[in-house]
Amino acid sequence: MSTNVDHGQWSSRLAFILAATGSAVGLGNVWKFPYIMGENGGGAFVIVYLVCIFAIGIPVMMAEVLIGRRGRQSPGNSVRALALEAKASTKWSLVGWVGLIAGFLILSFYAVIAGWAVSYIFESAAGNFVGASPEKIQTIFNDLQNDSSTLILWTTIVLAVTGLIVGKGLKNGLEKAVTYAMPTMFLLLLIIAGYAAINGDFAQTIRFMFYPDFSKLTFSGVLIALGHAFFTLSLASGAMMIYGAYLPQKTSIAQSVVAIAIADTVIALIAGMAIYPIVFGNGLEATAGPGLVFVSLPIAFGQMWGGIVFGTIFFVMLGFAAFTSAIAMVESAVAWLVERLSFTRGKAALTAVVSLWFVSMLTVFSFTGAEWAKLDFVFVGKHVSNYFELIDHLTADVLLPLGGLATAIFVAWVMQKEAVAQELNVSEKVFSVWYVTLRWFTPIAVLFVFLNLIGLVSFSS
Ligand code: PHE
Repeated sequence: MSTNVDHGQWSSRLAFILAATGSAVGLGNVWKFPYIMGENGGGAFVIVYLVCIFAIGIPVMMAEVLIGRRGRQSPGNSVRALALEAKASTKWSLVGWVGLIAGFLILSFYAVIAGWAVSYIFESAAGNFVGASPEKIQTIFNDLQNDSSTLILWTTIVLAVTGLIVGKGLKNGLEKAVTYAMPTMFLLLLIIAGYAAINGDFAQTIRFMFYPDFSKLTFSGVLIALGHAFFTLSLASGAMMIYGAYLPQKTSIAQSVVAIAIADTVIALIAGMAIYPIVFGNGLEATAGPGLVFVSLPIAFGQMWGGIVFGTIFFVMLGFAAFTSAIAMVESAVAWLVERLSFTRGKAALTAVVSLWFVSMLTVFSFTGAEWAKLDFVFVGKHVSNYFELIDHLTADVLLPLGGLATAIFVAWVMQKEAVAQELNVSEKVFSVWYVTLRWFTPIAVLFVFLNLIGLVSFSS
């Protein structure tokens, strides 16, 4: 159903870039990228990831922002309006809906991990990392995992704050927060990377991250890189469509998107270079999984001069980065509630975060190891052992690539070319390169990787 709700617009092009970068840069860069790179063998994975960002992620992000700006509503309703414009079936609105649902599901575990980051602000400020051995720091992390009431407390706080900011509207809360948080976090990451380069095993890090060993790369690794490219750019999850819906008409979509993607990629690579020297220098395992960042960085903070201050500021920033992403994940659901049920923003935000709280318990109890949260089956090519792994895999490796695929097909095959060209408003040359990529390369690449993973076609051993 189309609506006439006017959601308002960003106050400037910079505001959009900062907000979208805020959405892109988050736990995905600092928490997830380093550990999945470690689990998938390093350098070769990094190369595939970079290719996915530039050849698939950027074109799809342009498509999403374009849909949002032309539709000016929540993702499902925007796609619906554009399908009507193209005289196509309104069933295409599913493309927007899958995104909205993916964003919601991602936030259900993202809020839990963001809770770890927030709790580490206090661990660090209390001086608990100072001079602590790697074992002691591992114990602090394990204790947090095993304590369901603490996890629930932090998750609740994260969701409550997210709801408050979203309820207040974008301009008042979000624009201000990102203006300061993003540059500060970048600076801190550089300081930590500098520290790590001097005190950790930097040579091995460079070898690990930039000397590809393709024998270590599996097909599932390729799918993970693809899925993470979508995840880290906040694609196929409603976020870029809804942020595009608030974009002033004259802003260049292409330029903004490239800037956002480059900032996101640079931050992920620097995060890797900040974390791995410490991992290798302290004999930690690169394959440690979700706990990697929460163990390796505190070791560095515990040893470095001024570690209490740097560590505390760092986790404050990581918390900020997580919040600016969390907001983006829930915004489309909130916009939809406002459009469809005429809720006020406040009521819509409350409804969304309360429902999210219940779903987030699946992740909380996956980490505490509760019996009921354990699973044991293979789902789309991957063995999952609890709800967190299931939701993570379902979103990052299944819904996001397929959602990106559907978005590409919708914009490049279903929408009228003139409408697309008019909205994008770039030179003819840039347009054709982008259009051909979106029309052919994106769908074929995503399908190829995906079908191979689920074993329908097989090109690898
Ligand atoms: N891009 C965010 C990150 O890397 C995660 C995210 C996914 C945000 C989907 C919004 C929507 O942390």
